[in-house]
Amino acid sequence: MKNRIEVLHGVNFDVLGRRPAAHYGGLTLEQLEVKVKRFADELGLVVTFTQTNHEGEYCEALHQTTADGLILNPGAWTHYSWAIRDALEVTALPAVEVHLSAVDEREEWRRVSVVRDVCIGNVQGKGVDGYREALELLKEKLGE
Ligand code: DQA
Repeated sequence: MKNRIEVLHGVNFDVLGRRPAAHYGGLTLEQLEVKVKRFADELGLVVTFTQTNHEGEYCEALHQTTADGLILNPGAWTHYSWAIRDALEVTALPAVEVHLSAVDEREEWRRVSVVRDVCIGNVQGKGVDGYREALELLKEKLGE
């Protein structure tokens, strides 16, 4: 059964608890991961987490993943990292793009996503609950 999901947090997620709460909810990364792990347990999925502030390491994490499906929140890299987009394509895995904030309703530059075309879906503006929606999408896809 395919049930292994890797959540890849990008740049600045290590300091999530210090970022603007109005956009990101005020949770620390650890608190976010506890909640996402709980969602995964409820859905019968096995979740692992990776975070880095280094773009090349994020690409290497994609190269090396052994998961069945991916949740990506590359942070600001979402908006311009063609390297991450290409590394994601190499995985050939179902991936969902998640953003805590509603990026399509914020500044012009945040409305661009270079990873979206290699994802099966995107969830934004729902805070940590967006990760549950992404897990549900992946569970459905992996069950096909
Ligand atoms: C974010 C949105 C990005 O624009 C921003 O750079 C982030 C977080 C989000 O989860 O809302 O780092 O990906």
